[in-house]
Amino acid sequence: MCGIIGYNGKQNAIPIIINGLKNLEYRGYDSAGIAYFYKDKIKIIKEKGRISELEKLLDNSESNIAIGHTRWATHGEPSRRNSHPHKVGNVTIVHNGIIENYATLKEKLEQVGYKFQSETDTEVAAAVIDYENKKEKDKLKVLEKIESILKGSYALLIIFQDEPNTIYALREGSPLIVAMNNDGNFIASDIPAILDYTKDYYLLEEKEIAVVKMDNIKFFKEGKEIQKELLTFKYDTSSAKKDGYPYFMLKEIYEQPKVIKNFLDYYLNNMELIPDIGKYHKIHIVACGSAYHAGLIGNYLLEEYGDVEVTTYVASEYRYKKNFLDSKTLVILISQSGETADTIASLRLAKEMRSKTLGIVNVLGSTIAREADEVIFINAGCEIAVATTKAYTLQVLTLSLIAFKLGLKKGITKEDKDELLKDYKNLPEEIEKMLELNYKPYAKKIAKKKNVFFIGRLIDYYISLEGSLKLKEISYIHSETYPAGELKHGTISLIEEGTPVVAIITDKKIASKTISNIKEVKARGAYTLVIKRKEIEVSNDIYDDLIEVENLSDLILSILTIIPLQLLAYHTADTLGYDIDKPRNLAKSVTVE
Ligand code: G6P
Repeated sequence: MCGIIGYNGKQNAIPIIINGLKNLEYRGYDSAGIAYFYKDKIKIIKEKGRISELEKLLDNSESNIAIGHTRWATHGEPSRRNSHPHKVGNVTIVHNGIIENYATLKEKLEQVGYKFQSETDTEVAAAVIDYENKKEKDKLKVLEKIESILKGSYALLIIFQDEPNTIYALREGSPLIVAMNNDGNFIASDIPAILDYTKDYYLLEEKEIAVVKMDNIKFFKEGKEIQKELLTFKYDTSSAKKDGYPYFMLKEIYEQPKVIKNFLDYYLNNMELIPDIGKYHKIHIVACGSAYHAGLIGNYLLEEYGDVEVTTYVASEYRYKKNFLDSKTLVILISQSGETADTIASLRLAKEMRSKTLGIVNVLGSTIAREADEVIFINAGCEIAVATTKAYTLQVLTLSLIAFKLGLKKGITKEDKDELLKDYKNLPEEIEKMLELNYKPYAKKIAKKKNVFFIGRLIDYYISLEGSLKLKEISYIHSETYPAGELKHGTISLIEEGTPVVAIITDKKIASKTISNIKEVKARGAYTLVIKRKEIEVSNDIYDDLIEVENLSDLILSILTIIPLQLLAYHTADTLGYDIDKPRNLAKSVTVE
């Protein structure tokens, strides 16, 4: 969460920082700020709200060195006062992460005379650096000491008033990249910030310090200069641009046939790259948000097709519960960003307990990608919209292929195998067909409501969870997801005339039961939108609106079924006029607990 960027080079740094911040806005967008050297003095401009609010305050000043920040508030409300950069004495910083021991540090600093303007942990970090810099003039030594004082997760960019030609950067737990082109050097939280200028970058690792001048970059670790490998961003850079779509979310939804086709073309021809997880006694899947929902579907598929017992957990709880981990357990961590704090902590816990770890990750070079024993990259390209779509479907697809591979060993017949391969091959085309349907009429109905229900059983329930989350995230309409059979144990009391119920029926073996539950809500006046597998027959009195999905295997069908739900959420939010890529209070990469 929070996006940070710095530039030191021959060009005017201010527009570069503003543009970079706009490309990082998916990480947080409740306030923003910039600090730059102007006539050898540090000037800070910051404002509550989007980057566009900050832009209004800028004059025509030019500078060759600047740092900027877009915030997702953790300590203190979104306000100009709490916005970064924070300046204390000789030190000005921007920060992504959380300083966990900031309260103790603040108390100590107040005792030696520091006074604080904001409620943030960041201002405390700036004061710690300033305090240490008063005792030790060598900045590198100061920053090495800082690494042992600050507890928590942080990526910091620092400029010192008495050294107007350098940006220092250090990280612990929060990502940073250092990039370069012929004109200058950049430091940023993530690649989209610099793609307009360069594709060449270094990954800053834990406890490394970057010293970024106009014409050179040096890296240090434990007091010694180190050499690092220069990497090149290989994706098509258009994945970080809207390409004429009004929102990234819509673009990313429409990208799904392409990324899924690429993924399948690659992995179906290289099945040896899909891990064989049959040898483990226990399998845990751990993730957050939509990745957790993908995990639930994977859990179901692995059990049904792979004939293994699997348990799925939310990472924020897994790390604090008794898990009975051992060397015969496989822990699968699913994360688009590879930087979600709770998922990383779960990974480290599993490794400590000598369990094997498998990461399903989108971002190359991310913490989970680097630390997991094995990794499958989903290769979705940059995903910018906060509400994930293409990364989620690729996560499900990855788990589907793992289940498929396991199933082949456990006795999927030759005919079934051929049928499944045919379904995988048809999937991109079937998604195209779902994308062509018009979901706006349903969205218009939903947009008028305050509460929506999503129901389904087993895999259809897990699909519903994701559909409901998408709707909540971007349209702010409350929705409740319920296992269809559980409605009558309580929540059916909330169904009244016109309450929308979105019901999913793709699982043939349990369809008749779900149909009965739909009848129960219909009898109580609900408006029902039924999304069903084509071959499942239903009478037309159970639905007001009907969407049908092709008869693909259960191993694959959940991927097709989520498309209408993604577009339903999108068009509902659009009908209500919301800023779809930047939903209220959310951030894409959650690097705090
Ligand atoms: C945030 C995002 C979700 C995402 C979750 C996990 O809450 O808004 O879309 O599913 O984090 O993120 P990860 O990067 O670990 O998949």
